[in-house]
Amino acid sequence: MSRQSFYDVLTSEVAAIDDLGTSKRHEVVIESFTKDPEPLALINGKKVHIFNSNDYLGLRHHAAVKKGEKDASEQYGAGPGAVRFISGSLAVHRDLEQKLAQFHGRDDAMIFSSAFATNLAVLFCLIKGQRKDTLVASNVLVVSDALNHRSIIDGIRLANLGKEEKTIFKHMDPSDLERVLQEHVGKFARALIVTDGVFSMLGEIQRLKEIRAIIDSYDSKYPEGVLLVVDDAHGIGACGKTGRGTEEVTGAKADVLVGTMGKAFGADGGYVVANQKVIDYLREASATYIYSNSISPGTAGAALASLNIVEGTEGQALLTNLEKNKTLFKTAMTAAGFTFAADSNHPIQPILIGDAKKAGALTKGLLQEGYLVTNLSYPVVTAGRDEIRVQISATHTEESIRSFVTAAKKVATSVGIL
Ligand SMILES: Cc1ncc(COP(=O)(O)O)c(C=O)c1O
Repeated sequence: MSRQSFYDVLTSEVAAIDDLGTSKRHEVVIESFTKDPEPLALINGKKVHIFNSNDYLGLRHHAAVKKGEKDASEQYGAGPGAVRFISGSLAVHRDLEQKLAQFHGRDDAMIFSSAFATNLAVLFCLIKGQRKDTLVASNVLVVSDALNHRSIIDGIRLANLGKEEKTIFKHMDPSDLERVLQEHVGKFARALIVTDGVFSMLGEIQRLKEIRAIIDSYDSKYPEGVLLVVDDAHGIGACGKTGRGTEEVTGAKADVLVGTMGKAFGADGGYVVANQKVIDYLREASATYIYSNSISPGTAGAALASLNIVEGTEGQALLTNLEKNKTLFKTAMTAAGFTFAADSNHPIQPILIGDAKKAGALTKGLLQEGYLVTNLSYPVVTAGRDEIRVQISATHTEESIRSFVTAAKKVATSVGIL
């Protein structure tokens, strides 16, 4: 026996995943993008419309964003050099943090290599202290929406809580959250409630206002209160009148807000905004901040440029266009006979297919027609609720949306969906 036998186990494991039909490693390869106002991807030399990107505002191809990246690389170099507490922060990192804090109306912000890394740090540190003689009591109840993102689940897992210390509330059900909080009064020093702002499978926007009200009514019933952490990776820059995401749509604020620069801001990296006390503590305690590089200076420069665009008149125009495109898509798809898996008010538009094979066939047929979409099946979505997830962008043209609908109708009819 040798390590060869372990490699054989890995091969069998991959084969089992392939047999289940849930393999993810055979991604399409995008060779390049055209320079059109709606940039088209070149896949196998063929032009393809992208209908499954998180680049809701089209900023990853924006000239000012690419310039922001180039200028910052020229000024600071291609990489961060070291983690910030060792070699110092680059001014572009601090400028970006200040801009993010101001954008979200908070005291301060902290950037990480990704939103995933942000959630690992934020959740672990708000649940547990880092030091042996930490003052942060771990007598905390963690309550998570049942359909939260994997990075939230892993952040909670890191804290290694006992079964009784963590629980879920029913998906988007504030009254169930209230039941959980009521049941645990007197048993914990504090409670930490964590949720996605926008749930990416169906484009649902969390009922933050009701959740906020319940949390506030229980704050005084726990000795150290109740804290609301929201990860709005898909909301920020994609919904809300000025792109402030779920907080703006619902009119309610998180205590600690996590975001990403890798979706609507068209760059990369994650961040958290909160009051100064929370951020000071996180800078001292977050392992993925202290022991891992920040984003490259170019990426920070790109994100700063994106934020400036979102805050200005151009950003407002992009958000208006995004809204218009989303409405056009919904109306045209409904008229073509398609059903949606949810009535989403977000650029994520889930088309209900209800059969994994048919959903796969529609995705394949659409790619042949020149449109890239994503099909989702169990266990990512509920069994029997197989869907095609479409993501609308501000840069889609009316013509490309209408031609998408025509192609979808043609393929759906040929594979027995319509
Ligand atoms: C809710 C949520 N949080 C975090 C992430 C991860 O973001 P990042 O790519 O910046 O790690 C995603 C992306 O899929 C997400 O949907």
